[in-house]
Amino acid sequence: MILVTGGAGFIGGNFVLDWLGNPKNDGVINLDALTYAGNLSTLKEVEQDPRYQFIQGDIAERHQVQDIFQKYQPTAVINFAAESHVDRSITGPGAFIQTNIVGTFNLLDCAKSYWSQLDPDKKSAFRFLHVSTDEVYGTLGPKDPPFKETNPYEPNSPYSASKAASDHLVRAWFHTYDFPVLTTNCSNNYGPYHFPEKLIPLCILNALNGKSLPIYGDGQQVRDWLFVKDHCAAIRTVLEKGKLGETYNIGGWNEKANIDVVKQICAILDELRPKEDGHSYAEQITFVTDRPGHDRRYAIDASKIERDLGWRPIETFESGIKKTVQWYLENPEWVEGVTSGKYREWIANQYQQS
Ligand code: NAD
Ligand code: TYD
Repeated sequence: MILVTGGAGFIGGNFVLDWLGNPKNDGVINLDALTYAGNLSTLKEVEQDPRYQFIQGDIAERHQVQDIFQKYQPTAVINFAAESHVDRSITGPGAFIQTNIVGTFNLLDCAKSYWSQLDPDKKSAFRFLHVSTDEVYGTLGPKDPPFKETNPYEPNSPYSASKAASDHLVRAWFHTYDFPVLTTNCSNNYGPYHFPEKLIPLCILNALNGKSLPIYGDGQQVRDWLFVKDHCAAIRTVLEKGKLGETYNIGGWNEKANIDVVKQICAILDELRPKEDGHSYAEQITFVTDRPGHDRRYAIDASKIERDLGWRPIETFESGIKKTVQWYLENPEWVEGVTSGKYREWIANQYQQS
């Protein structure tokens, strides 16, 4: 068995589906606290798979995590569990400190105690893969080269600062205890099952519901977009071939300004679901107050993982974004299930001035 944390979230959920989609793969224990961002409906198709086991719980809960290690004896841990939304980290940073820092510490410490008593073969095969973000490197100017693994950490938001802290803990457990860790720092993901508080799914759904498409500031902030299934493949590659103690940057070589991403979504919707009045969805674009401390540009240099481990993304932004829009058009029941009262409250508060 492998232990996946945060497997009911966007990337963890896609990872569990992808992993169990290969009949040769081991089983998965999915430990997830089911916060507002965790949705078991993402995992419907594997619920009955005998290789799949869901456990509701918090990575910061020592006894529960210890028990899971003793009972299931996992061969690897992949840590996706986190608070992940920058805007929420600005209005309520406490949960980010608790899960991303204290939670990662607890998971690491429990994993290390378990690993230290394994027999030599199992001990040398064990892996702890920590899933992190490019946001730990801070922000880039328009002409700066993309982030390499050697860039200094310069996190600017409570979210990125908490992820940076967790990366440092993981690094320290390798250097101090020889604990077998791997860290991945990935750029912005998009694709199916993305919670609609993030830019791409929010704009797809707002467009379809006749609501405004809120662009922060001037919309010229740049993100480097990666289709989530490519990220899953990269994580499998690092798990299998990554060198212990190393970090790997993962990105799509797809730098786009936010306004261009949203215009592209509108153009796809105009083609796939034209509005009855013949107008373009782009007319719903609205510029709103900027995010405080908004990082201007992220871009990943993914040449290390390509050179050392042979991974490259398959999707271009054009192919991936079309698949994504199509997926949201075909899965209204998933959307219905996740846009609960709590979600509506967040959207109403966050966008009250727009
Ligand atoms: P998400 O918010 O969609 O999902 C997070 C999951 O973690 C949810 O299912 C939630 O219930 C669970 N969780 C939260 N707190 C928990 C706790 N204390 N114990 C157990 N489970 C808990 O996040 P995501 O977008 O899927 O991101 C997954 C990981 O990838 C995060 O670590 C994030 O920092 C990282 N990452 C995300 C992106 C991106 O674009 N989304 C890019 C790079 C890296
Ligand atoms: P987001 O999806 O929240 O990811 P991150 O902040 O981790 O990069 O945001 C992507 C970009 O889109 C970011 O520059 C902020 C911007 N954005 C908007 O312009 N409007 C929105 O309503 C949201 C949620 C984000």
